[in-house]
Amino acid sequence: DLPARVRIHEVGARDGLQNEGTLVPVDVKAEFIARLAAAGLRTVEATSFVHPKWVPQLADAEELMPRLADLPGRHPGLRLPVLVPNERGLDRALAHHAGEVAVFASATETFARRNLNRSADEAMAMFRPVVERATAAGVPVRGYLSMCFGDPWEGPVPIAQVVRHGLALLEMGCAELSLGDTIGVATPGQVKALLDEFTRTGVPIDRIAVHFHDTYGQALSNTLAALRSGVTVVDASAGGLGGCPYAKSATGNLATEDLVWMLHGLGIETGVDLAALAETSGWMARQLGRPSPSRTVRALLGP
Ligand code: HMG
Ligand code: MG
Repeated sequence: DLPARVRIHEVGARDGLQNEGTLVPVDVKAEFIARLAAAGLRTVEATSFVHPKWVPQLADAEELMPRLADLPGRHPGLRLPVLVPNERGLDRALAHHAGEVAVFASATETFARRNLNRSADEAMAMFRPVVERATAAGVPVRGYLSMCFGDPWEGPVPIAQVVRHGLALLEMGCAELSLGDTIGVATPGQVKALLDEFTRTGVPIDRIAVHFHDTYGQALSNTLAALRSGVTVVDASAGGLGGCPYAKSATGNLATEDLVWMLHGLGIETGVDLAALAETSGWMARQLGRPSPSRTVRALLGP
């Protein structure tokens, strides 16, 4: 009852880097993305067209995009989605020929305020024209939903509240819904319960992706629970980089290497060359000046 193949949605260059205090040079970012693609990842989230004051690390999105246009050996199926919070962000992304975009909503009020400067419903209203215009331009939209399992300010988040906001994203035209455990507090039973509820309301499981952070070491267990519920799209960050600057206590994402180790062990295809990926994370860790938190990276590369 496990899938034969999983599509990994690599977020290291976006979620992974957005929280880094030291600015990473744009050429390093371009090389990171090129290496991730060369390691066999087919979906590599590249950057965000958000307000530069809100996320200074990604203020170079305009400089990065042209560098990605002709990556050496670029696979024709390579997808390089970018985050856009509003129409201004979409205009910037379209001007740079983004082929795919993502909006990012919140299941809780406090995080909507902190991350988007609006209530959760006002944020949805901000996304609606973005989704409509992108879709009309032939650019598919992913909808992220944050704080699906717990919120640092509000505590546990009721399933009905998560489903209401998730359905709003799908109904406005998001092709895919990524359920985020932004602060990494979920456990596998919660994951199953939430996915069951989306399925019960009629959402096809192939429109749902999962996005786990590894704060409490549960990301891989949660992923396995999601696979058992039929999910085949999993977000992960090379080397386990990451964390959201506007979410208290959010640490790194599920490390892509840890995910690939488990999936390949289960006989599930990913298309990823694990050795090349771990090399890439080792290289990035040297750029950032500290070791990767991924157990698999450390096991493969040694001390
Ligand atoms: P705001 O201050 O309310 O913006 O911020 P505004 O609409 O009032 O506009 C104010 C000024 O900003 C205007 O300029 C706009 O043009 C400009 P002025 O007219 O005053 O000169 N502006 C922009 N400039 C460039 N690009 C833009 C843009 N938008 C407005 N896109 C806003 C609202 C949404 C912009 C702000 O809150 C923001 O940028 N937030 C982004 C926060 C963020 O990126 N967080 C991390 C990503 S989410 C995440 O990590 C979670 C995830 O991984 C899943 C999970 O783990 O749960 C996805
Ligand atoms: Mg995240």
